[in-house]
Amino acid sequence: MMGKGRQTRDGIRIYEDADFAGMHKAGELAARILDEIAEHVFPGQTTGELDRMIEEKVDAAGATSATIGYRGYKHASCISVNHVVCHGIPGDKKLKDGDILNIDVTVIVDGWFGDTSRMYVAGKLNRKAERLIQVTHDSLMKGIEAVKPGNTFGDIGHAIQTYVEGNRMSVVRDFCGHGLGQVFHSPPNVLHYGRPGTGAVLEEGMFFTIEPMVNLGRPETKVLADDWTAVTRDKSLSAQFEHSVGVTADGVEIFTLSPSGKFHPTY
Ligand code: MF3
Ligand code: CO
Ligand code: CO
Repeated sequence: MMGKGRQTRDGIRIYEDADFAGMHKAGELAARILDEIAEHVFPGQTTGELDRMIEEKVDAAGATSATIGYRGYKHASCISVNHVVCHGIPGDKKLKDGDILNIDVTVIVDGWFGDTSRMYVAGKLNRKAERLIQVTHDSLMKGIEAVKPGNTFGDIGHAIQTYVEGNRMSVVRDFCGHGLGQVFHSPPNVLHYGRPGTGAVLEEGMFFTIEPMVNLGRPETKVLADDWTAVTRDKSLSAQFEHSVGVTADGVEIFTLSPSGKFHPTY
């Protein structure tokens, strides 16, 4: 069920003006948790410990983790290291110097979902990884720049794809962004590739994520036997950034902006 309110013929819910405040609050908490976790990322740290701290922060805020119990998932975050594309499961493995990792957190505040992820580095960032992270971050921002009423979802995907491929990297096709709001995953599928003018038309009041995954090598992925961890087939490095956004009358509101300006790892 989509809940009440207007819906487009593609099944995309149109939220009300007042709903932006709920999304802002949820997005801000998710972003603040990602800000606060940054200082705990270092060589020797485990992803399991990072996840434990994230769960504690969600609880301390009086919020709920959207991922614990979601389709059997047991953790408050996904932590995807190096060639892991997404849905990395936190565990006992220690981070090594130069590892890059995506931490993805989704919280529920007063029924609203805030979903965001960004890249971190343990120790010293090498030049290839730095370029991958920069291009991935900037591709998300190019996608967000295409968000305004009258544009289409294909415009968003096209902006991301042309930027990434122009930098001789590849966009993952096997995972996409999604509508969210008072539910975690809802229509539409927000593809990170596409052709201008195709797909559903953006309307004021649509809420969704944009979360491009970019590989240094080929775009193909495979899911490991744990049924969650997605990795690059060619073992090349992968990066991802994710924002939750809402379409406004004249553009976009980013719900998951970093309260202390730490969205990028080289802040
Ligand atoms: N936060 C992820 C997303 O961006 C979804 C994680 S689902 C989980 O959509 F179960 F793996 F946590
Ligand atoms: Co998401
Ligand atoms: Co996410």
